[in-house]
Amino acid sequence: MNTDETAINYTTCYTQPLFSRVWAMPNKLTFTIKPIKELVEKYVKENQVVIDPFANESKYGTIRNDLNPEFDTHYHLDALSFLKLMESNSADVVLYDPPYSITQAAQCYKDYGKDKLEQNVANMGYWGNCKNEVARILEPNGIVIICGWNTNGVGLKRGFQMLEILAVPHGGSKNDTLCTVERKLPTLF
Ligand SMILES: C[S@@+](CC[C@H](N)C(=O)[O-])C[C@H]1O[C@@H](n2cnc3c(N)ncnc32)[C@H](O)[C@@H]1O
Repeated sequence: MNTDETAINYTTCYTQPLFSRVWAMPNKLTFTIKPIKELVEKYVKENQVVIDPFANESKYGTIRNDLNPEFDTHYHLDALSFLKLMESNSADVVLYDPPYSITQAAQCYKDYGKDKLEQNVANMGYWGNCKNEVARILEPNGIVIICGWNTNGVGLKRGFQMLEILAVPHGGSKNDTLCTVERKLPTLF
Protein backbone atom coordinates (compact mmCIF):
# COMPACT_ATOMS: atom_id res chain seq x y z
CA MET A 1 0.00 0.00 0.00
CA ASN A 2 1.29 3.45 -0.90
CA THR A 3 2.10 5.44 2.24
CA ASP A 4 3.70 8.41 0.46
CA GLU A 5 0.58 10.49 0.80
CA THR A 6 0.98 11.54 4.42
CA ALA A 7 0.80 15.20 3.40
CA ILE A 8 -2.63 14.76 1.82
CA ASN A 9 -4.44 17.92 0.84
CA TYR A 10 -7.78 17.62 2.62
CA THR A 11 -9.59 19.60 -0.08
CA THR A 12 -9.25 16.42 -2.19
CA CYS A 13 -11.69 14.74 0.23
CA TYR A 14 -14.47 16.89 -1.15
CA THR A 15 -13.91 16.07 -4.81
CA GLN A 16 -16.75 14.13 -6.42
CA PRO A 17 -16.40 10.36 -6.45
CA LEU A 18 -16.33 8.55 -9.77
CA PHE A 19 -19.89 7.40 -10.52
CA SER A 20 -20.90 4.56 -12.80
CA ARG A 21 -24.15 2.71 -13.43
CA VAL A 22 -24.14 -0.72 -15.05
CA TRP A 23 -27.16 -3.02 -15.43
CA ALA A 24 -26.74 -6.65 -14.36
CA MET A 25 -28.82 -9.64 -13.30
CA PRO A 26 -29.18 -9.93 -9.50
CA ASN A 27 -27.38 -12.70 -7.63
CA LYS A 28 -27.28 -13.40 -3.90
CA LEU A 29 -23.53 -13.98 -4.35
CA THR A 30 -22.88 -10.27 -4.79
CA PHE A 31 -19.25 -10.48 -5.89
CA THR A 32 -20.20 -12.75 -8.82
CA ILE A 33 -22.31 -9.94 -10.37
CA LYS A 34 -20.10 -8.85 -13.29
CA PRO A 35 -19.68 -5.09 -12.66
CA ILE A 36 -19.28 -5.71 -8.92
CA LYS A 37 -16.77 -8.51 -9.52
CA GLU A 38 -14.81 -6.10 -11.75
CA LEU A 39 -14.93 -3.40 -9.07
CA VAL A 40 -13.65 -5.79 -6.39
CA GLU A 41 -10.88 -7.04 -8.69
CA LYS A 42 -9.83 -3.46 -9.42
CA TYR A 43 -8.93 -2.96 -5.76
CA VAL A 44 -8.02 -6.42 -4.44
CA LYS A 45 -4.43 -7.23 -5.37
CA GLU A 46 -2.14 -10.17 -4.68
CA ASN A 47 -0.35 -10.35 -1.33
CA GLN A 48 -2.77 -7.99 0.40
CA VAL A 49 -4.55 -8.56 3.68
CA VAL A 50 -8.21 -8.63 2.67
CA ILE A 51 -10.74 -8.92 5.48
CA ASP A 52 -14.27 -10.09 4.70
CA PRO A 53 -16.62 -10.22 7.71
CA PHE A 54 -19.67 -11.41 5.66
CA ALA A 55 -17.93 -13.72 3.16
CA ASN A 56 -20.56 -16.36 2.33
CA GLU A 57 -18.91 -18.37 -0.53
CA SER A 58 -16.63 -15.56 -1.69
CA LYS A 59 -12.88 -16.25 -1.56
CA TYR A 60 -11.49 -12.75 -2.17
CA GLY A 61 -10.83 -12.34 1.55
CA THR A 62 -7.58 -13.67 2.98
CA ILE A 63 -9.29 -13.56 6.41
CA ARG A 64 -12.92 -14.55 6.01
CA ASN A 65 -15.85 -14.76 8.40
CA ASP A 66 -19.49 -15.75 8.07
CA LEU A 67 -21.95 -16.34 10.86
CA ASN A 68 -23.26 -19.37 8.99
CA PRO A 69 -21.10 -22.45 9.69
CA GLU A 70 -21.99 -23.92 6.27
CA PHE A 71 -19.51 -21.60 4.57
CA ASP A 72 -15.77 -22.23 4.19
CA THR A 73 -14.50 -19.30 6.27
CA HIS A 74 -11.77 -18.98 8.91
CA TYR A 75 -14.27 -17.75 11.53
CA HIS A 76 -17.99 -18.25 12.14
CA LEU A 77 -18.59 -15.30 14.42
CA ASP A 78 -20.93 -12.40 14.58
CA ALA A 79 -19.28 -9.77 12.32
CA LEU A 80 -18.81 -7.31 15.19
CA SER A 81 -17.05 -9.89 17.38
CA PHE A 82 -14.93 -10.93 14.37
CA LEU A 83 -13.91 -7.36 13.50
CA LYS A 84 -12.95 -6.70 17.13
CA LEU A 85 -10.48 -9.61 16.91
CA MET A 86 -8.61 -8.03 13.98
CA GLU A 87 -5.51 -5.92 14.65
CA SER A 88 -5.59 -2.14 14.23
CA ASN A 89 -4.17 -0.81 10.92
CA SER A 90 -3.68 -4.35 9.65
CA ALA A 91 -5.88 -4.58 6.54
CA ASP A 92 -5.23 -3.38 2.99
CA VAL A 93 -8.85 -3.97 2.00
CA VAL A 94 -12.13 -4.65 3.81
CA LEU A 95 -15.02 -6.13 1.84
CA TYR A 96 -18.29 -5.32 3.58
CA ASP A 97 -21.38 -7.01 2.14
CA PRO A 98 -23.89 -7.58 4.97
CA PRO A 99 -27.64 -8.29 4.76
CA TYR A 100 -29.10 -5.16 3.12
CA SER A 101 -32.07 -4.62 5.44
CA ILE A 102 -33.34 -5.62 8.85
CA THR A 103 -35.81 -7.93 7.06
CA GLN A 104 -32.99 -9.70 5.19
CA ALA A 105 -31.01 -9.97 8.42
CA ALA A 106 -33.97 -11.40 10.30
CA GLN A 107 -34.41 -13.97 7.51
CA CYS A 108 -30.73 -15.05 7.97
CA TYR A 109 -31.01 -15.40 11.74
CA LYS A 110 -34.33 -17.27 11.62
CA ASP A 111 -32.36 -20.36 10.60
CA TYR A 112 -29.06 -19.95 12.45
CA GLY A 113 -26.82 -17.65 14.42
CA LYS A 114 -29.21 -15.60 16.56
CA ASP A 115 -27.45 -16.83 19.71
CA LYS A 116 -24.08 -15.61 18.33
CA LEU A 117 -25.06 -11.99 17.72
CA GLU A 118 -23.16 -9.57 19.94
CA GLN A 119 -26.00 -7.00 19.74
CA ASN A 120 -29.46 -6.89 18.22
CA VAL A 121 -28.86 -6.08 14.54
CA ALA A 122 -32.16 -4.18 14.47
CA ASN A 123 -30.29 -1.66 16.60
CA MET A 124 -28.57 0.84 14.28
CA GLY A 125 -25.77 1.05 16.86
CA TYR A 126 -24.69 -2.44 15.81
CA TRP A 127 -23.92 -1.38 12.23
CA GLY A 128 -22.29 1.86 13.41
CA ASN A 129 -20.04 -0.17 15.71
CA CYS A 130 -19.10 -2.47 12.80
CA LYS A 131 -18.07 0.60 10.80
CA ASN A 132 -16.04 1.94 13.74
CA GLU A 133 -14.15 -1.37 13.72
CA VAL A 134 -13.62 -1.20 9.94
CA ALA A 135 -12.13 2.28 10.42
CA ARG A 136 -9.82 0.90 13.14
CA ILE A 137 -8.53 -2.19 11.32
CA LEU A 138 -7.76 -0.59 7.93
CA GLU A 139 -4.28 0.77 7.46
CA PRO A 140 -3.90 4.38 6.26
CA ASN A 141 -4.84 4.50 2.55
CA GLY A 142 -6.61 1.15 2.98
CA ILE A 143 -9.75 0.54 0.93
CA VAL A 144 -13.25 -0.49 2.00
CA ILE A 145 -15.85 -1.66 -0.51
CA ILE A 146 -19.39 -1.68 0.85
CA CYS A 147 -22.43 -3.14 -0.93
CA GLY A 148 -26.00 -2.40 0.06
CA TRP A 149 -28.98 -0.20 -0.61
CA ASN A 150 -27.38 3.09 0.36
CA THR A 151 -24.17 5.02 -0.29
CA ASN A 152 -23.43 6.14 3.27
CA GLY A 153 -20.14 4.28 3.36
CA VAL A 154 -17.93 4.42 6.44
CA GLY A 155 -17.99 8.19 6.04
CA LEU A 156 -15.87 11.31 6.25
CA LYS A 157 -16.56 11.65 9.98
CA ARG A 158 -14.65 8.40 10.49
CA GLY A 159 -11.89 9.71 8.20
CA PHE A 160 -12.83 8.13 4.87
CA GLN A 161 -12.79 9.63 1.39
CA MET A 162 -15.34 8.36 -1.14
CA LEU A 163 -13.50 7.34 -4.33
CA GLU A 164 -16.18 5.57 -6.34
CA ILE A 165 -19.88 4.76 -6.39
CA LEU A 166 -21.22 1.97 -8.58
CA ALA A 167 -24.99 1.60 -9.02
CA VAL A 168 -26.15 -1.74 -10.39
CA PRO A 169 -29.81 -1.69 -11.44
CA HIS A 170 -31.41 -5.12 -11.84
CA GLY A 171 -34.62 -4.21 -13.69
CA GLY A 172 -38.28 -4.54 -12.76
CA SER A 173 -39.06 -3.19 -9.32
CA LYS A 174 -35.89 -4.58 -7.73
CA ASN A 175 -33.64 -2.30 -5.74
CA ASP A 176 -30.29 -1.36 -7.29
CA THR A 177 -27.25 -2.80 -5.59
CA LEU A 178 -25.11 0.18 -4.57
CA CYS A 179 -21.38 -0.19 -4.04
CA THR A 180 -19.10 2.40 -2.51
CA VAL A 181 -15.31 2.44 -2.51
CA GLU A 182 -13.61 4.55 0.16
CA ARG A 183 -10.06 5.16 1.24
CA LYS A 184 -8.96 5.64 4.84
CA LEU A 185 -7.28 9.01 5.00
CA PRO A 186 -3.85 9.06 6.61
CA THR A 187 -3.79 11.14 9.77
CA LEU A 188 -1.41 14.07 9.71
CA PHE A 189 -0.37 13.84 13.36
C1 LIG B 1 -24.92 -10.65 1.15
S1 LIG B 1 -24.22 -12.13 1.79
C2 LIG B 1 -22.51 -11.98 1.33
C3 LIG B 1 -22.27 -12.43 -0.07
C4 LIG B 1 -20.81 -12.44 -0.47
N1 LIG B 1 -20.21 -11.13 -0.40
C5 LIG B 1 -20.68 -12.96 -1.90
O1 LIG B 1 -20.40 -12.17 -2.81
O2 LIG B 1 -20.89 -14.15 -2.10
C6 LIG B 1 -24.20 -11.77 3.52
C7 LIG B 1 -23.62 -12.87 4.39
O3 LIG B 1 -23.50 -12.36 5.70
C8 LIG B 1 -23.75 -13.40 6.63
N2 LIG B 1 -24.17 -12.71 7.86
C9 LIG B 1 -25.36 -12.12 8.12
N3 LIG B 1 -25.33 -11.50 9.29
C10 LIG B 1 -24.10 -11.67 9.80
C11 LIG B 1 -23.48 -11.25 11.00
N4 LIG B 1 -24.12 -10.51 11.89
N5 LIG B 1 -22.20 -11.60 11.18
C12 LIG B 1 -21.53 -12.34 10.27
N6 LIG B 1 -22.07 -12.79 9.12
C13 LIG B 1 -23.35 -12.45 8.88
C14 LIG B 1 -24.82 -14.25 5.98
O4 LIG B 1 -24.72 -15.60 6.45
C15 LIG B 1 -24.45 -14.13 4.49
O5 LIG B 1 -23.70 -15.25 4.07
